[in-house]
Amino acid sequence: MPTFAWRDRLLGWRDRLIASPRFRELAAAFPLTRFVARRRAGALFDLCAGFVYTQVLLACVQLRLFDVLAERPATAADLGRRFGMGEEGMLRLLRAAKALRLVEDRGAGRFGLGQLGAAMVDNPGIAAMVEHHTMLYADLADPLPLLRGEAGETELQRFWRYARSDDPARVPPDAALAYSRLMAASQSLVSAEILASYSFKKHRRLLDLGGGDGTFLRAVAKAAPGLELRLFDLPAVAEGAAEAFAAAGLTERAGAHGGNFLTDPLPEGADIVSLVRVIHDHDDAAALRILARARTALPAGGTLLLAEPMAGTTGAEASGDAYFGFYLMAMGSGRPRTKAELEVMLGRAGFVRPRLLSTRTPLLARVIVAEAAPPQGSAGRGESVSLA
Ligand SMILES: C[S@@+](CC[C@H](N)C(=O)[O-])C[C@H]1O[C@@H](n2cnc3c(N)ncnc32)[C@H](O)[C@@H]1O
Repeated sequence: MPTFAWRDRLLGWRDRLIASPRFRELAAAFPLTRFVARRRAGALFDLCAGFVYTQVLLACVQLRLFDVLAERPATAADLGRRFGMGEEGMLRLLRAAKALRLVEDRGAGRFGLGQLGAAMVDNPGIAAMVEHHTMLYADLADPLPLLRGEAGETELQRFWRYARSDDPARVPPDAALAYSRLMAASQSLVSAEILASYSFKKHRRLLDLGGGDGTFLRAVAKAAPGLELRLFDLPAVAEGAAEAFAAAGLTERAGAHGGNFLTDPLPEGADIVSLVRVIHDHDDAAALRILARARTALPAGGTLLLAEPMAGTTGAEASGDAYFGFYLMAMGSGRPRTKAELEVMLGRAGFVRPRLLSTRTPLLARVIVAEAAPPQGSAGRGESVSLA
């Protein structure tokens, strides 16, 4: 491709330079390039060592170390006694955690919370993900068979039972409870992002497709007191949501419906449908079908709100493309999509005027809202859209 020739030649020259041991030696010795060389070496080392850093965090989370240090700073000997660990092992963990800014020196041999450790206190969503990741690491121990599509059943496939199921509506209650708990633990972070970027007050009835145990709808209920709420999820999940709505005194305003959103009738009467962390779980044909079915649940002019982490997010490339890309690969279904890819799918499913709302922490979720087009032509009715 001639248009890339110059760029390729230039970047090829840069790559050959960095790849040359002689150049790297000179760059590290020369005062003006030393800083860049050091930064590059550090970044590369962090990529090699990332798994070890993660295990340091896992050990802290498993011990509930941050909650203990939130009460008061403590010495390695005190902490070791408390956690049934020798002082030497405790000190090794504390020194590693200090290097990663999870804990800090507080004088007289005591350790207190570091800036990152302090952010872990009262943050059950992140702690739950850290512990959940033991499954992901087991699955990613040998990434090539996964990339080649030759791996057997993974731990994440066993955990997310609907992901490759022929009949997701039959996901058993214990499996539904396990993943719904994990989702609920991190949902408050996501709902805070969505509520800060979109007001539900102008709507009458919200249908949350794949709404889990209803944590998102309960947060919306507080922000928009006049709004009616409907949740649709697999039967075992919807049952838990109905109980949670009753416990929150929301029975009058909120209903939970069980079924398969790919095939079963959806509740009627919503003027807004939300899909929160749902579309990225599904391969393209299923994702398009869900969007098309959301379109049929809305009147013309109704609103679709889609919230999830997206690929190609500036400043969050590593989480969108590397983390979610590999997570969903291990789960065996879905992929992170760019805003542009989602907009094309929304158009095919019968939505117009997609708008990306600005969110405070795009690595957690980005939000697109779109309008249901009038049901004219084949793309207007979700059911008749081509899913090829
Ligand atoms: C990743 S979770 C997200 C849950 C919730 N929206 C949140 O953000 O916390 C995806 C949800 O979609 C539901 N789901 C998956 N496949 C489904 C299907 N075919 N029909 C109905 N719900 C489904 C799952 O049960 C799960 O609750």
